[in-house]
Amino acid sequence: MKDTITIYVTDLNGAEHIIHAPTDMNLNLMEAMRVNGLSVKATCGGMALCATCNVVIESRDYPLPEMSEEEEAMLDEAFVLDIEGSRLSCQIPIKPELDGLRVKMGELTAD
Ligand code: FES
Repeated sequence: MKDTITIYVTDLNGAEHIIHAPTDMNLNLMEAMRVNGLSVKATCGGMALCATCNVVIESRDYPLPEMSEEEEAMLDEAFVLDIEGSRLSCQIPIKPELDGLRVKMGELTAD
């Protein structure tokens, strides 16, 4: 089992960043992006209350957690629910199975 996974993140300028995230520190994807120096607003600090950590999942067939009612409601309120693959990155725990995942930062992440 891998201790560190690699995730590919495309920022709002279209630049790809390769980030590395430990799987044993209870991080979520929002935190992993920030720890790796990416600017993610994440106003609510990971409580599924702001949608400013929104990403679009570009990979297929990754075992992501089911969307909670809170996450779905927040994405709906932020008018991004209709963007296919849209998720709150703070609601995606870093797990070994996510190695190689590709995501694109959503527009709400910008300051
Ligand atoms: S940080 Fe606020 S919803 Fe994810």
